[in-house]
Amino acid sequence: MDEAVGTTLSRFIADEQMKHPGATGEFSNLLVELITCARLISREVNKAGLVEILGLTGHRNVQGEEVMKLDRFANETMIRTMSHTGYLCMMASEENADPIPIPAEYPKGKYVLCFDPLDGSSNIDANAPIGTIFSVLQRRSAGDDGDPEDLLQPGRDQVGAGYFLYGSSTLMVYTTGSGVHIFTLDPSVGMFLLSRADVRIPESGKYYSVNEGNTAYWEPGVWKYVDYLKSATGERPPYSTRYIGSLVADFHRTLCYGGIFAYPEDHRSPGKPKGKLRLLYEASPLALICEVAGGRASTGRGRILDVVPEEIHQRVPLFIGSKREVEWAEKFIAGEMQPPTAGLSAPPPP
Ligand code: AHG
Ligand code: MN
Ligand code: MN
Repeated sequence: MDEAVGTTLSRFIADEQMKHPGATGEFSNLLVELITCARLISREVNKAGLVEILGLTGHRNVQGEEVMKLDRFANETMIRTMSHTGYLCMMASEENADPIPIPAEYPKGKYVLCFDPLDGSSNIDANAPIGTIFSVLQRRSAGDDGDPEDLLQPGRDQVGAGYFLYGSSTLMVYTTGSGVHIFTLDPSVGMFLLSRADVRIPESGKYYSVNEGNTAYWEPGVWKYVDYLKSATGERPPYSTRYIGSLVADFHRTLCYGGIFAYPEDHRSPGKPKGKLRLLYEASPLALICEVAGGRASTGRGRILDVVPEEIHQRVPLFIGSKREVEWAEKFIAGEMQPPTAGLSAPPPP
């Protein structure tokens, strides 16, 4: 076992800074503030089940919108905690229509933060894993206050990105470009301890993760690609399907086991294909993690990290995971790859 396992975050960051003298402590301090948010959110997420069972809020059973209040709690925790750190000059949250400036009374810093405070929230009352996703960019604008334009940078310019996963244990996964590292929260001491350093995603996998309820809305290349994965070929058995419906959980499994997660475009309105996942605080941060871990993250027609956002809630199609499976997706979409025989996954006619 790697002797670094069990290292505290501050020790690990200090070691990393020795290895990368250019790294300033500011990103690390930002990470420590994000951990404070994660610990507060994780505590409330764990109580949600309790509230439902014990009706502590006075409700006979907590309806979805009651559990959904966790979205608001997570968002307010992130905004309140991160506003006064002095490291940021502007924020963007999935829950806020507009960019979030840093209040005048607080010092401004050189970073901007984009975040999804609670990802997969529709799964909370099913006790399925959910998470928080964050992306950090360096400001481009001069002056004291940040500018909303600082948020509209391509993902390749992120200085760091990561997510917290509130599951059977609470994990933090992050990268600053040199390695992807996984920390696990030890609740007995309230500290995140290193569980895996320099994670590499497998070159290929045996799982595909996509909501097949949307098959009718996909373009033909995507349908043929998924059909190909579901079919046995001379070299391999069919892929197995896994789909939780929480992006962070589905991505984390893909990072650990390999394969692909996809949320293709919806082609219902002709000429206006629509992705579901958001670029700034879902696709870009996970794309950075995936690429640093040796994988690939694509819109199906190009690198996620090269997409220049036009607005903070821009949606994109997402194909992310092991290089082999994502490259296949791109080839099927481009019409450069066809299944060996059509309709492989359909059982042979009687
Ligand atoms: P959020 O809870 O932040 O709105 O994100 C939900 C997203 C993502 O977590 C997941 O991959 C996707 O929605 C699932 O969408 P479907 O239910 O359409 O499959
Ligand atoms: Mn989300
Ligand atoms: Mn969300």
